[in-house]
Amino acid sequence: QTEVIKIDRENMDLDVLKRAGEILKSGGLVAFPTETVYGLGGDGLHEESSRKIYEAKGRPSDNPLIVHVADMEHLEKIVKKVPKAAYKLAEAFWPGPMTMILEKNDLVPYGTTGGLDTVAIRMPSDPIALELIRQGGGYIAAPSANTSGRPSPTTAQHVYEDLQGKIPMILDGGAVTIGLESTIVDLTEEIPTILRPGFISLDMVQAVLGEAQIDRGLIANDSNIHPKAPGMKYRHYAPKADLKIVEGPMEQVISYINEQAEKGRTGIICTEETRSRYPKGDIKCVGTRKDELSIASHLFAVLREFDEDGVEQIYSESFKAPGLGEAIMNRLLKAAGHQKVDVSDRK
Ligand code: TXA
Ligand code: MG
Repeated sequence: QTEVIKIDRENMDLDVLKRAGEILKSGGLVAFPTETVYGLGGDGLHEESSRKIYEAKGRPSDNPLIVHVADMEHLEKIVKKVPKAAYKLAEAFWPGPMTMILEKNDLVPYGTTGGLDTVAIRMPSDPIALELIRQGGGYIAAPSANTSGRPSPTTAQHVYEDLQGKIPMILDGGAVTIGLESTIVDLTEEIPTILRPGFISLDMVQAVLGEAQIDRGLIANDSNIHPKAPGMKYRHYAPKADLKIVEGPMEQVISYINEQAEKGRTGIICTEETRSRYPKGDIKCVGTRKDELSIASHLFAVLREFDEDGVEQIYSESFKAPGLGEAIMNRLLKAAGHQKVDVSDRK
């Protein structure tokens, strides 16, 4: 049986968080909200807990987990050394939606890092997450709390859909604020490298470190260049129906999607600005282009809804832009298995 317990961020019930912490310390799993997506937590320093996480998610065990901490001292204890860049990034973005890759020491089992000598570490800002980490022993390994391959969960209900009966407890803190997973910055390379784009953009990282780049494996169309974060190579977030992203001037995009919508049960991902232009189809307005965070925070929920609606094909408008648009497009492209239609040359 999976217990779902509502927690009020402004007035947290410490007894519940203590109980959740006990589950973690005794080797069990608890799902909890963070500002990015819901996480599936287990004790990151115990291989057996990590094994349970992989099993509950149905995730390949070569895909490493992120260890969540609540203060810098805990980070210092599990890595070989803390480079200056790590202190700078932590100062700028922690607690918050940024994960660093550093060299691990012997305290971190290979069962948590998928056999790698490096470890991913993040200090989330959600007060529920921070308190759970403290109550649970200080090192909570947590991937997104979805079944492997499905969109990451942005509500406790999403977690319940995927993991009911498989874990003892879900802490329900309502809908998350960002809705896309953290930015991953690899500090074990000569040049700090973003392995997964997120709310913290390349510009923001460069402003702090002077120099930083995006992993070529993420942007390359060349299938011989692989992304460095093992998780980025899997097809992910994929809805059951075939999803294509339509690019080009907005008028052409709209008329192309409307033509396709004549051909079968069609899902359409659009924005406030264009919603009224689609007369037919299962139309989901993901947010407004005036506020990219509104798009980020609803994207995964929209992808999940299409599965319930049972559409045959899905067309999405494109969200090209630097900053958060980079992360939105990265997730959308993965969900689409990189299928794009360019309609620029159509009349
Ligand atoms: O926002 C987030 O980061 C959420 C919340 C729960 O904190 N967590 C999350 O975890 O997204 P997960 O497991 O779904 O994604 C972790 C990503 C994977 O792509 C994995 O391959 C990569 O981080 N990763 C973890 N450790 C790594 C390492 N040592 N080297 C390279 N990539 C690593
Ligand atoms: Mg994930």
